Amino acid sequence: MARSIYEFPEIFRRVHMEQPAEIGREVEFLRRVWRRHLKRSVRRVLDVACGDSPHGQLLMRDGIEVAGVDRSPTMIAKGRADSRRAIRIYRRPIERFRLPERPFDAAFFMSETFPIMVTNADLMSHLRSVARLLKRGGIYCVDIDRHDGIEVTGRRRLWRERSVRVGAINVEVREYHRRIAWTTALHSIYELECGIHFVDRLVTTRDIIPVRYTVPATLALTAAASGCFQLIASYADLSFTKPIGRCHGRWWGVMRRL
Ligand SMILES: C[S@@+](CC[C@H](N)C(=O)[O-])C[C@H]1O[C@@H](n2cnc3c(N)ncnc32)[C@H](O)[C@@H]1O
Repeated sequence: MARSIYEFPEIFRRVHMEQPAEIGREVEFLRRVWRRHLKRSVRRVLDVACGDSPHGQLLMRDGIEVAGVDRSPTMIAKGRADSRRAIRIYRRPIERFRLPERPFDAAFFMSETFPIMVTNADLMSHLRSVARLLKRGGIYCVDIDRHDGIEVTGRRRLWRERSVRVGAINVEVREYHRRIAWTTALHSIYELECGIHFVDRLVTTRDIIPVRYTVPATLALTAAASGCFQLIASYADLSFTKPIGRCHGRWWGVMRRL
């Protein structure tokens, strides 16, 4: 089986072109969303597809209790080590999970990963899994890339390529779009190929990520269909004032637990 970039947490961040201050800005916006939409203070939060939980690490320093779910053993190991095990990270599939935890005040799903759940069944069981762990009235925030018009690709084609340096390691990054069938609800199938040139060996990783077409109207319907959430707001580019139609990069869906 091909290796995954998530086996290399330090390299994954650079490959995803994350800016140094990005996580801090997202955590600040999370706090503003909570202040705006939650009447009570937030003491316990759930980080969904947390990886090494960079958001959780910042929240934890301010005294918030954090738990997370993810499936990658290497990302989980790094999250546990970085937080000195203060963040309880469970190895679970996001599509359906239960945790031995009391209900949380809020949950969040960052790094535009929510649309990897592509079937209706997975989306429903995911939302019900999160809802079971949230207090009534609790808030679930997800961030999603702006999904411009769907382009049905007939064949696998190279989209972008670049080189990234991580310390002494050179990484060749190639991104492809793969063929999608018109009958699926997909926006695209994104393939990420990385050639990691360690000093003594070359490791190639390949992640194939189907992306469901997700815009505020479809998320509102998904939330309603789950019977346990309502989409109460959509925000563009970490702003409360920018019209959603002018979103440049990512938008946030804010769902309230019914
Ligand atoms: C782009 S990373 C984001 C990690 C973290 N939230 C952050 O902001 O850095 C996506 C994470 O989703 C996890 N993931 C992807 N598919 C998953 C699934 N089906 N079940 C559980 N975790 C999954 C990966 O292991 C990875 O850690």
